[in-house]
Amino acid sequence: MTTETPTKDENIVWHKHAIDKQFRANLKQQKPAVLWFTGLSGAGKSTVAGALENKLAELGYHTYLLDGDNVRHGLCSDLGFSEQDRRENIRRIGELSKLMADAGLIVLSAFISPHRTERQLVRDLLPEGEFIEVFVNASLEVCEQRDPKGLYKKARAGEIPNFTGIDSEYEAPINPEIDLLAGEKSIDALVDDCLQALKARNIIA
Ligand code: ADX
Repeated sequence: MTTETPTKDENIVWHKHAIDKQFRANLKQQKPAVLWFTGLSGAGKSTVAGALENKLAELGYHTYLLDGDNVRHGLCSDLGFSEQDRRENIRRIGELSKLMADAGLIVLSAFISPHRTERQLVRDLLPEGEFIEVFVNASLEVCEQRDPKGLYKKARAGEIPNFTGIDSEYEAPINPEIDLLAGEKSIDALVDDCLQALKARNIIA
């Protein structure tokens, strides 16, 4: 006789509900997607994602914006910036983004998400074509020059350990669906680039 407790996986059975992803997406007359904005702090991820969300809303799309700084006040308020915590941060946001896409939404997720492996894990959670990696591509020099929150200055002074780009690595995407020249172009031009790319991929009409 075994006294071993069965693993939770054996006892938790997926419940299939009648109202499914397709149904919810059809009600909203749209194709769900996760637009995953990655880049250095100060590259413009939240700004571009916010401006794009405004445009999508104007066009009648149902969206939700998940933003690193905001999510870290709630769902991920227990996490810091160690490699392990960042991995857990991205894992949670990945699962949350997947649930929101399942709700039929176009999700805009703006996180530094510095590691290729974690971004790949999120990609693998979603059906082919539903994960759109948007590289908000601005150099460290540009981001440090902008320093909108004064965090680079503090990091250089040794006041913020593990700061991305300073003493913590950022791995740029190798083949992102959308590569935004965020160090050179205006926000409006970057939003237009996103809209064109989303049209070309039939995410929007
Ligand atoms: S991630 O690396 O786990 O994806 P996330 O996007 O959630 O990061 O949070 C980044 C934001 O947290 C930055 O925009 C910045 O305002 C703040 N921040 C605080 N400490 C750090 C740090 N050590 N490295 C990077 N960003 C930090």
